[in-house]
Amino acid sequence: MSGASVALLGLAAVLLQISRALPPPAAQAHFLRAQQLEESGDLQGASDSFQKAIGVYPDYADAFRARGKVLEKLSDLEGAKHHYLEATRLAPETAANHFSLGLACEQLNDLSQAAQSYSLAIKLDPMMSAAHYSLGIVLEREGALESALPSYREAVRLNPNHLASTLSLGDALKRNADFKEAEVVFRSALSMPATITTPNAKPHLRLASLLQQQQRLEEAAVSFRNGLEVSPSNAPAQFSLGLVEEARGNWSGAKAEYEKAVRLAPGHVPVQRYFAKFLRKHGDLSKAAESLQGILDIDPTDKVLHVELAEVMAQFGDLSRAETSYQNALALDPRLQSAHTKLGILQRQLGKLDDARTSLETALVLNPRDAETAETAEICTQLGVVHKMRGDLRSAAARYQQAIDADPSHAAAHGNLGIVRMLQENWEDAEESFWEALRLDPDYDGAYYSLSGVLSLRGKVDEAKALVRRRIELATEKGIWPFRLSMTQLDSNRLLENRLRQEEEYAKKYAAALGSNADSGHSEDPIARLSNAIEAPPGLHQLTHVIRGVRSMENSSDWALRRWEECLELGSGSVACAYGTTWFETWLQVMADSSLSQKMPHYLEKGLRYTVGGSAIGYQCLFAATALGFNCTGYELLQCLVADSESLAADLKSSVPVDVEFVCGDATNADLSTTGVLWLNDALWPAEVRLKMLLKAVSVMPPGSTVISYQPKPDDQQQKQLSQLRDERMMTASVSWNPAQHFFLWTITP
Ligand SMILES: *[C@@H]1O[C@H](CO)[C@@H](O)[C@H](O)[C@H]1NC(C)=O
Ligand SMILES: *[C@@H]1O[C@H](CO)[C@@H](O)[C@H](O)[C@H]1NC(C)=O
Ligand SMILES: *[C@@H]1O[C@H](CO)[C@@H](O)[C@H](O)[C@H]1NC(C)=O
Repeated sequence: MSGASVALLGLAAVLLQISRALPPPAAQAHFLRAQQLEESGDLQGASDSFQKAIGVYPDYADAFRARGKVLEKLSDLEGAKHHYLEATRLAPETAANHFSLGLACEQLNDLSQAAQSYSLAIKLDPMMSAAHYSLGIVLEREGALESALPSYREAVRLNPNHLASTLSLGDALKRNADFKEAEVVFRSALSMPATITTPNAKPHLRLASLLQQQQRLEEAAVSFRNGLEVSPSNAPAQFSLGLVEEARGNWSGAKAEYEKAVRLAPGHVPVQRYFAKFLRKHGDLSKAAESLQGILDIDPTDKVLHVELAEVMAQFGDLSRAETSYQNALALDPRLQSAHTKLGILQRQLGKLDDARTSLETALVLNPRDAETAETAEICTQLGVVHKMRGDLRSAAARYQQAIDADPSHAAAHGNLGIVRMLQENWEDAEESFWEALRLDPDYDGAYYSLSGVLSLRGKVDEAKALVRRRIELATEKGIWPFRLSMTQLDSNRLLENRLRQEEEYAKKYAAALGSNADSGHSEDPIARLSNAIEAPPGLHQLTHVIRGVRSMENSSDWALRRWEECLELGSGSVACAYGTTWFETWLQVMADSSLSQKMPHYLEKGLRYTVGGSAIGYQCLFAATALGFNCTGYELLQCLVADSESLAADLKSSVPVDVEFVCGDATNADLSTTGVLWLNDALWPAEVRLKMLLKAVSVMPPGSTVISYQPKPDDQQQKQLSQLRDERMMTASVSWNPAQHFFLWTITP
């Protein structure tokens, strides 16, 4: 539209106005007074004065519109609409009256009336950019995106420095999938004088989302950062920047951005939840747990979150907290069957066998009665494991069979049934079960392990060795740390890592306590008890070094293979191939037995030795030498383990005056006449070998010395011969193959 025609239109309006009678001065006076009151903020006074102007002159169109505006501010939309209607009736040629009516109708959600009024205003004053803009909004709200676009375009053309209409145009274009033009529009908003003088985050963030949607991630990140620089507390933008960095594969960056978003909107649960998932996915389990705990602090009734927290804690290796979280979830909904199952498994790992059984039996009850499913099979298998650990092999076998009946393809049920048959010395059936387990699951690590044992027991040594090699290959392919080839109960690298960290921290704590002269007082705490009983031995500073050496040897596939090959050669003697480790904490806990720790200074003073039967790679001797100061001898049947022990001890012997030696042979042939402490790793020894060992101990060891074993005294018939084993103490502690292993201690009496 040319400048001349605009002027003409303006002139026409003036002429129309003039052609109507002017309001009388009294009405004008009220009008002016009302305007002053409105300006001073007295809306009610203003409304009354406009009303007086109208009272004096009922055709006063401007007064109607002005009062309508005041009523709008007073939130009386209906009243406002009524006044605008009057104004348009009295002065239908005034564009502003229609525009105001349109705004009131729009707010009252009368969109078609609003659109009609805006269109009339535009007809009367095509230059009125605000009317174009508002028409665009109403049309878009009515779902007519295509028709809205020309209105926005016109509004922007008429008033190119108006940010809101520019952003609306860009948004509409984006919604219309016209990304190129949308980008041009958003970029134009960035260079507007208005946004240059007063920086505004909106155009940056609009552009950022557009770029994000187009997967132009680097540019999007830049735009989000620009927007956040202007408006640093914009949590949604902060979160979006995290999403962009995540999509770019910049995980540490994403994490930092999500953290900021959570800090900005701590109560925003979806963001926290997403963040927790992200952390879990990227292995930051302690942060994930923290985040989940944060949401639970806001809403402790979310059972799904409790379960998630439990899973994270279990993954993290904090089994006690995982147990609590499952219990919290179950308190909210006792029918969560899978939570009962997982809780049962955890409790078994924690050595709480009664609780584990209860949880698993509850899960089984909750499982649909007639379900012959993998689920039933899993629960029954887990129940079987609990029975087996309680020593009830018959119930265990029955549960495994029940699992197989429910789901014949459940490999773990066959594998575990094989173990029970093995323990029942039913080699043939055991072999069959393991083969079936491997047929069903060719990656089943435990089945390789057990089957190789059974095969060698049955004299099929070459077949057994081939299986072991395959097992090591598979573990390497799957990233299973070699350590886990020798350890049951540690079914993830992370669990193992945590376990090792805990062990090392404990050893450091022990060394610190012994190193300081402070009296730790009377206590049940093993560290306190031992540090009160004995002096710091000269090798104490080597303790953590020794532990690390042992653990790193155990974590080597070469070592595992060497050990197995040699062990499987033993054929029927290869039951003893099973390997397990006693953690330093557990070992120390046994050593801190009140009676033993009391006698310990005497043993050391008299130069009595520490002797280990079945010393494996010698760690108990190394513990005894460094942590307590004993001279130690380890007896071990496998040549290769003796060599390993010697290599581990070499460092120690060169730096500490301690006598640690390893003998390849049967401890029953040992000279025990100077032994103060005899530790027997006899969990799997044949009964007759164990009896021979104990008889030798009571006849040769000095009175007052101590014998430690994994099993109770042999049965009644031999009781008389072993009556010198007195003052029996039993304790329970966690070892690598059993979280609730029993230990038996006796004192030898004359
Ligand atoms: C990853 O994100 C962080 C935080 O947003 C950022 O500082 C860093 O530059 C990003 N890294 C790359 C390679 O873009
Ligand atoms: C165990 O060995 C694996 C593979 O060699 C290695 O990646 C891992 O870090 C080791 N773990 C420990 C605790 O030493
Ligand atoms: C260890 O044996 C050496 C001799 O080999 C002896 O001198 C030392 O006293 C013994 N130490 C203890 C604590 O028995």
